[in-house]
Amino acid sequence: MSIKPLRKAVFPVGGLGTRFLPATKAMPKEMLPIVDRPLIQYAVDEAIEAGIEQMIFVTGRGKSAIEDHFDIAYELEATMEARGKSLGVLDHTRLAPGAVAYVRQQEPMGLGHAVWCARDIVGDEPFAVLLADDFMLGEPGCLKQMVDAYRQVGGNLICAQEVPEDQTHMYGVITPGTRDGRLTEVKGLVEKPAKGTAPSNLSVIGRYILQPEVMRVLENQGKGAGGEIQLTDAMARMIGDQPFHGLTFDGKRYDCGDKAGYVTANLAVAVARADIGDTVRAFAVDLLR
Ligand code: UTP
Repeated sequence: MSIKPLRKAVFPVGGLGTRFLPATKAMPKEMLPIVDRPLIQYAVDEAIEAGIEQMIFVTGRGKSAIEDHFDIAYELEATMEARGKSLGVLDHTRLAPGAVAYVRQQEPMGLGHAVWCARDIVGDEPFAVLLADDFMLGEPGCLKQMVDAYRQVGGNLICAQEVPEDQTHMYGVITPGTRDGRLTEVKGLVEKPAKGTAPSNLSVIGRYILQPEVMRVLENQGKGAGGEIQLTDAMARMIGDQPFHGLTFDGKRYDCGDKAGYVTANLAVAVARADIGDTVRAFAVDLLR
């Protein structure tokens, strides 16, 4: 089996982020900061660490802040330089010319539809998908762990995590086959199963390595759970044709599409920081006393 190298990553950022209103009325959810870096910056850094060369953003209305974030901010940089301030804080925010592409999802019709919007830029090669609101902390990063596993097994590889039984209805859920360490063979996939019907509690988390054939499957796919075109449904139809595995991530995941997950992530990162950790920890201890 020849395994094609992974060079491209798709970042679907076209969602409405209704759970974060009003913060997300005029600002994309992906620009919410964890301390001082936006969620999307962490996801892009994770992709760079994993060797990704081209970043493809699937955007929607009101997402221009993301384009500006990864651009040169001439006035800001010139002013900082004139004042003798280091531009190091802007590292990785200026993506190389040609290393970034934007495509518009005119209507938020679902994650599967968002991925399909990138089909011409992805072309005929495997690609990663990263959902920036699934904030993954690990060393190495989540996508790097997945790329290392992908080099062994090829095919389709999704990030998997066991979730409490009473939460499976909020996720794509895996019917597990043979397990080998952190790798689990994927025998089936179901998006947001009704309570009490989930095939396991092994759930799909927002990192994927997919073969380009998924675009052809998405092309003809109708709406699924929640009236949206679901990526999970398209992936489910590829099982059996290509190797398909779930990789349990060695690290911590925070669901930053959810308010409690987002606040928790900020706290976890803040207390670990050299510059503000002591202050935040002392405050938290005092607050909870
Ligand atoms: P979510 O299910 O979190 O939806 O999408 P959302 O619209 O972003 O947020 P809520 O539920 O209204 O608060 C999961 C991921 O898929 C992307 C989102 O941007 C997010 O990264 N997405 C979802 C799209 O890009 N397009 C869509 O049509 C739907």
